Amino acid sequence: MRVAVIPGDGIGKEVMDSAIAVLEELDLNLKFEFYEAGDETLAKYGKALPDETLEACKKSDATLFGAVGETAADVIIRLRQELDAFANVRPARAISGVKCLYPGLDIVVVRENTECLYKGWEFEIQDSAFAIRIITEKGSERIARFAFEFAKKEGRRKVTALHKANVMKKTCGIFRDVCRRVAKEYDDIKFNEYYIDAACMFLVMDPFRFDVIVTTNMFGDIVSDLTAGLVGGLGIAPSANIGEKNGIFEPVHGAAFDIAGKGIANPTAMILTAAMMLRSLGFMREAKKIEMAIEKTISEGKKTPDLGGNLKTLDFTREVIKNLQKLEEV
Ligand code: NAI
Ligand code: MG
Repeated sequence: MRVAVIPGDGIGKEVMDSAIAVLEELDLNLKFEFYEAGDETLAKYGKALPDETLEACKKSDATLFGAVGETAADVIIRLRQELDAFANVRPARAISGVKCLYPGLDIVVVRENTECLYKGWEFEIQDSAFAIRIITEKGSERIARFAFEFAKKEGRRKVTALHKANVMKKTCGIFRDVCRRVAKEYDDIKFNEYYIDAACMFLVMDPFRFDVIVTTNMFGDIVSDLTAGLVGGLGIAPSANIGEKNGIFEPVHGAAFDIAGKGIANPTAMILTAAMMLRSLGFMREAKKIEMAIEKTISEGKKTPDLGGNLKTLDFTREVIKNLQKLEEV
């Protein structure tokens, strides 16, 4: 199987090195092919997402993506749309050993990935700017169904839709109505809904009332950084973009220019993202092993600075690989 690898900018490159090192430790029949995209690529070729990179992502069995900088809209948002990877699955699961606001929390944000304000339909007339928010019945239906099917498959009990249908009556109205309709088909899974603003308060004060969250593109982007913050931050938050075809796997975080080049980025999010990719490619055991190696490393107190530790990216990666090797032996 072929994996298109896009390290990108800033810490994207640093954490990608770690993830590839971990993946190469496993004896898998995966071929990693590296491609360029992002701010540096734009400066070099005048294009943030070269055609060659886009074509490679379309043809590969999966894309493993680090992070880009200011060109995120032209690269990752475009990639999701081009590959019609309509569901962005963003788990927020507390890892034992990580000091966080809510130990034991395990929720998943399912974010619609192809519509909403992130479609990028913005224009200016004189001194005013406009943005078009598109929400379709078809798009809402497939993400709602995905969320319920995901809940069913993962043995989760509840799906919560987040929207703002009291204000955005038409767009959020469609999303809300479709979620309600789809929910009726799933007797075993509870359904409820909140307005996005109240949901943010509940997430901070009582996140255990949530299980699977389904929401539109921009709300999902924002809320998934929030949920990451509940369990220890962006350093440990992975994600998968799933569609009918091949998926794109990327951490929730961006290029983190504030720490780039210092060798202190936490590669956990990227490594857990690689595990999500393995699972989608059918390598269940190997995915589990990676997750176990990460948990073991962190529970031994070996951590990067964002989690209160003092290990550098490479040292932490080395420890993860050591634990992975121990798991391989048994
Ligand atoms: P960011 O996610 O890059 O960083 C937010 C904060 O979290 C920073 O303080 C950063 O140091 C910290 N952080 C993030 N990942 C970390 C990790 N693995 N280990 C330790 N600390 C980590 O978001 P920010 O700062 O708003 O954006 C920086 C650049 O990234 C911007 O140019 C933005 O456009 C881009 N971006 C790209 C995304 C993508 O490629 N998917 C997503 C989000 C932002
Ligand atoms: Mg984001």
